Amino acid sequence: ESGVEVVTDEKLTVCTHLPYEPFQYEEGGETVGFDVDLMDLVAEDLGLEQTIVNTPFETIETGQAMSTGQCDIAAAGMTITEARDEVIDFSDPYFNATQALLTKKGSGYDSLESLEGKTLGVQIGTTGQQYAEENAPEGVELKVFEDLALLLQAVKNGGVDAGINDNTVLIGYAEENPDTEMTVEFDTGEQYGFGVAQGEGAELLDAVNQALADAIEDGTYEELFTKYFPS
Ligand code: ARG
Repeated sequence: ESGVEVVTDEKLTVCTHLPYEPFQYEEGGETVGFDVDLMDLVAEDLGLEQTIVNTPFETIETGQAMSTGQCDIAAAGMTITEARDEVIDFSDPYFNATQALLTKKGSGYDSLESLEGKTLGVQIGTTGQQYAEENAPEGVELKVFEDLALLLQAVKNGGVDAGINDNTVLIGYAEENPDTEMTVEFDTGEQYGFGVAQGEGAELLDAVNQALADAIEDGTYEELFTKYFPS
């Protein structure tokens, strides 16, 4: 042998916005989560190594992060919406979610109407923010947070009276923080998709859809589901 080693460092770059447990979050110095594991399957199929790029959610949901080449694909617990579909090409749906309210336990806020004269925390750029803006009565004061951690913390320490976000994320948080509770789900019927720059990632999307179909078929999806959504 020549002794020359061919080093391939081909990466699948994946944009996300941390933290969004259990879809993407830091644990023991590593980024882990349901989306991360699914993207690992895609990377493996393509013979690539996943590299995660943490970037504000607005840059993801506007498609900018992907169209400017910050990453090949976004995996961010991102809901497929009509507006986003105009600037992003989405994979097949891989998860169902709905908006929900998190409050301090026993607060009694179980609807947007019950928050009249109160404050409601929203996460910037999300479908939760959009739902609150479209449906909360005038008297509800919306407070915008840069990320999920800041929003959850504000609910816990009384900085806001309630927070709106995706149900699965709130269920997990309330389980770990029994002084909080999820009081209502709004049945927004959302589906998550992985997203690439419009018109630029057809091949990659095919690989993603194939990896998803395989994972569902061979039980890997189910395994990951049980791992990250234990109840
Ligand atoms: N599903 C919601 C949306 O698409 C929230 C996603 C937030 N994701 C994140 N990684 N911060 O707007």
